[in-house]
Amino acid sequence: MSLLEDFVAYLFSSPTTLLGVVALLLTLFLVSKSFTSQEFRREPPGPRPLPLLGNLLQLDLKRPYKTLCELSKKHGSVFTVYFGTNKVVVLAGYKAVKEALVSNAEEFGDRDIAPIFYDLNEGHGILFANGESWKELRRFAITTLKDFGMGKRLSEEKVLEECHHLIQVIEKHEGKPFDTTRPLNHATSNIISAIVYGSRFEYNDPRFKNMVRRANESIRIVGSAPIQLYNMFPRMVGWIKDRQLILKNLAMTVRDVKELIIHLKETLDPHICRGLVDCFLIRKQKEEDSCVMDTHYNENNLIFTVTNLFSAGTDTTATTLRWGLLLMAKYPHIQDQVQEELSRVIGSRQVQVDDRKNLPYTDAVIHETQRLANIVPMAIPHKTSQDVTFQGFFIKKGTTVLPLLTSVLADESEWESPNSFNPSHFLDKEGKCIRRDAFMPFSAGRRACLGESLARMELFLFFTSLLQHFRFTPPPGVTEDELDLTPAVGFTLNPSPHELCAVSRQ
Ligand code: HEM
Repeated sequence: MSLLEDFVAYLFSSPTTLLGVVALLLTLFLVSKSFTSQEFRREPPGPRPLPLLGNLLQLDLKRPYKTLCELSKKHGSVFTVYFGTNKVVVLAGYKAVKEALVSNAEEFGDRDIAPIFYDLNEGHGILFANGESWKELRRFAITTLKDFGMGKRLSEEKVLEECHHLIQVIEKHEGKPFDTTRPLNHATSNIISAIVYGSRFEYNDPRFKNMVRRANESIRIVGSAPIQLYNMFPRMVGWIKDRQLILKNLAMTVRDVKELIIHLKETLDPHICRGLVDCFLIRKQKEEDSCVMDTHYNENNLIFTVTNLFSAGTDTTATTLRWGLLLMAKYPHIQDQVQEELSRVIGSRQVQVDDRKNLPYTDAVIHETQRLANIVPMAIPHKTSQDVTFQGFFIKKGTTVLPLLTSVLADESEWESPNSFNPSHFLDKEGKCIRRDAFMPFSAGRRACLGESLARMELFLFFTSLLQHFRFTPPPGVTEDELDLTPAVGFTLNPSPHELCAVSRQ
């Protein structure tokens, strides 16, 4: 008999021996596994999780970015936290976020598609998609936006036309208090609509009003505590009211977008692209004619690319402008300096993009508004596309990663006064507007905002045109100190509900 046969015979000689050996093997296996992950594959540290709940009891679900900033003080710039059973690696501070998103762009460049985002797009479009389809559509969107003048003269004209409409709407309030949300959302939405559909909407168009309202409502609710719970335990809490509302909004928006696309299809001239939808339809037809296999130019990708651009392009820019006006009302001495510069350099003529270089103080105020407003505090969740060792820590492929943009925009080692509104952050000794590395409101790397240059142009032209025309003040009976800068709950950070007066200067 061989040694092996002797051993097997011994194993089966009694049930107790067999059980003992199985237990020994199991222990060895578990010890080796934990040894491998903790010693050779040191994972990012973090607070101890509870079974099933993870670190749920420690997280402020309405403002998770706040808890995460607190945790980074104790656990460092790369740490692990469990949202229920979902393991999440958080990156905090300029150095860690830049090293991950820029120096390791490929490894940290996939999108994590949480259950609510899968409900919304089912993996189509740009925002919540990955792989070849995402790559192709992102490239298509960037090229088309550029063709339609993103950041150039053509879109400048569109923004200037919209400034004119916006000013008219605000003038109608005759200096009395009003909520800035709707006019600013309509104005910014019309810029992306003109690029996507080829024409703007009237502000009183009921379909347009509803599309904008639903997009904003859904973005707000996606950041609510019940939706965070749904993302952690989708099977258990799928019935919640907030999710049902988001699904209802989605169904109505898809219906509206389909109608708009049908109209464009009926009037399509294959030689002229009026907007991004036309370009997509023409490309789709070409690929069908030449029997391209696995084409990404299909109906679902069209609908969700359009809804992605519409919502990403509306809420963000309008929210930043609302913060800008609120900050001007709260800090009148800064508004004075902006208006003095505008009067001195521009006078009463229409501002143009080329004027930016001659308006350094105003430019610095816009940058500082974006820094302090911090409207996308955790970026949009990323996911590792492969196993990666980062700052000495092992992070497995498919791990959710949160680049904590708020911790970059308020990084104490990068900004002189991170928590106050201080335009000097962006001014040198000669008063010129300067670039700062840790200015990252659009994120960075492979998934960075693709509308950055359009957004920057809009912010500049809308902000300067409004401040040329109006003086923004708190409503009568409210002092500047009483204007609240606490952000409302939401996926993007809006100012809390408030009203302002816009008093005509002309
Ligand atoms: C002030 C205005 C804006 C801000 C602060 C902003 C910020 C951001 C941020 C932080 C991200 C996530 C990046 C990441 O995951 O790392 C993002 C993604 C995106 N943004 Fe913007 N954005 C703005 C305006 C716009 C505009 C005007 C458009 C449309 C033209 C747009 C379209 C998108 C799209 C499509 C994505 C997804 C990119 C991808 O997943 O590949 N954004 N934006």
